[in-house]
Amino acid sequence: MALEKKITIADLNKLKAAGQKFAMLTCYDATMAGIQQDAGVEVILVGDSLAGPVLGLPDTTGVDLDTSVTLTAAVRRGAPLAYLVADMPYLTYTNPAQAIANAGRYVVEARADIVKIECDRRFLDIVAAMATAGIPVMPHMGLTPQRAGQVGGYRVAGKTATAAIEIIETAEAMVQAGASALLLEAVPPEPAEMVARRVPVPVIGCGAGPGCDGFVVVTHDMIGLTGRVPKFVKKYADLREPMRAAFAAFVGECKSGAYPAPEHNYPMSAEELAALKDWAGKK
Ligand code: KIV
Repeated sequence: MALEKKITIADLNKLKAAGQKFAMLTCYDATMAGIQQDAGVEVILVGDSLAGPVLGLPDTTGVDLDTSVTLTAAVRRGAPLAYLVADMPYLTYTNPAQAIANAGRYVVEARADIVKIECDRRFLDIVAAMATAGIPVMPHMGLTPQRAGQVGGYRVAGKTATAAIEIIETAEAMVQAGASALLLEAVPPEPAEMVARRVPVPVIGCGAGPGCDGFVVVTHDMIGLTGRVPKFVKKYADLREPMRAAFAAFVGECKSGAYPAPEHNYPMSAEELAALKDWAGKK
């Protein structure tokens, strides 16, 4: 069912309290945002995952702040009612002052509801400073793709009891520091559920099992526009082939003359056409 009123953090907190799950999808343009709002997607994320589908980059480290802010504003215009999450790019939140200045652009210029930063315990002071400044912040923990170069790839997090406890304790500390919501990526279901049960804010899972309060996947993956997708993604449509077929049909009809047909033309009145032909005949 289409969204009918603006979704706020209070609505997400109420859903959590009532044990009702919510959906979050990535989005990078106004058209897709409108479709998602019409489908009832409560939370939209302008993820730095835009790196691949939008910019053709091999990983997320090449996403720049201006592009991300511009696309977040476009998504907001397309989906004014969704709870809008902006994803801060690599190296744009390395200290409190920088994080506040850059996050402020998403809130003020792009009208985002919250900003997401990939972090671990070392970012507690940054989260606290952002929250103190009045910026709603969503720490993204577990697998943090912006650090793939540092840890040597994309690895599931929290698979040992020690690692799981670190995630749970850090999640609690993040909420103490002022985080308004949390995102857990590629974490086993048990520790993720423990986090969701222990903290009072919404916990969104991205490959973190059914115990989270909301669930996110990359839209291009779930509608079949990308090739290889992570294990936790379920495909709800396979749009790559129908799109390719539509483009190929267009190419064929341009070449054959089937397109444009008379119904695609802007006709002149018979009178004006006669006058034009008369003029052309005199030349
Ligand atoms: O950038 C992104 O799309 C994300 C999600 C995968 C959580 O961070």
